[in-house]
Amino acid sequence: MSSQHGTRAPNQQFTSNVDLYNGWSATYDIDGNVMPAVDDVVFNDRVVPLLKSTEGDVRILEIGCGTGRNTVKLRQDLSPGSTIYAVDVSDGMMQQAKKKLEGNSENVNWAILDLQTQGEELATFVGQPVDIFISTLVLEHVELDAFFATLGAHLKSGGWAWVSNMHPFIGMHTGAGYKTGKDGVRVRGVSANYEMQEVVDAARKYGLEVEGDIVEAGVGDDEVEAVRQFGPRAKKCVGWKIFAGFLFKKV
Ligand SMILES: C[S@@+](CC[C@H](N)C(=O)[O-])C[C@H]1O[C@@H](n2cnc3c(N)ncnc32)[C@H](O)[C@@H]1O
Repeated sequence: MSSQHGTRAPNQQFTSNVDLYNGWSATYDIDGNVMPAVDDVVFNDRVVPLLKSTEGDVRILEIGCGTGRNTVKLRQDLSPGSTIYAVDVSDGMMQQAKKKLEGNSENVNWAILDLQTQGEELATFVGQPVDIFISTLVLEHVELDAFFATLGAHLKSGGWAWVSNMHPFIGMHTGAGYKTGKDGVRVRGVSANYEMQEVVDAARKYGLEVEGDIVEAGVGDDEVEAVRQFGPRAKKCVGWKIFAGFLFKKV
């Protein structure tokens, strides 16, 4: 692991993750960020079919639900009697998620919690272990051990989890952040870069085994097609792997 916190780079300003996401929340869905766009494509391809084939009512925990980009899909693709526990450390992000699901959230329970420091509150909130665990683009912001201890503690044996993250190929150079309108400063939070094997090994310690291939994705090699599919900001990542996605099964 290598931490990005404190990296000296021009036009970057570092803050806490709570401040980063509270500040980013109003524009997170509309600023043309390529990473959630790639996450979307992979999630639709790999996770939505699993959700749709899930039989009966299930309990599902989403850690770092953000603006509810994927919470909406959980709500749509699981049977209506299912229960979603949506957790995030940023009130600003969660307010956006609540807005997005307004009128359609009777089976969604919301909690502002930090997975790294509020384990007891999280356990009280979730109660019994869940059938499915989802966490997209959160891992870079937390310690691997804390994350997988949480996952292992809250997922039933035989349950599955989908975890996506920034690919180490770009994680060694950058981390999540957004540009402020006024002076073009890029605001960054606390991010770490995790190699694939580190993630797999940390998960295994808590009874989680990778199912199938780890998904490594990007915007492709063709600039025109990349921009068409992912927007103008995709230009700068043509030919790179930027995204990693892991499906885990709890043994
Ligand atoms: C890049 S956003 C991803 C949001 C959403 N999952 C998505 O894919 O669009 C990362 C999210 O993780 C949340 N987060 C970061 N650290 C966290 C922590 N320790 N506990 C809970 N949530 C956290 C942030 O507040 C933010 O909403």
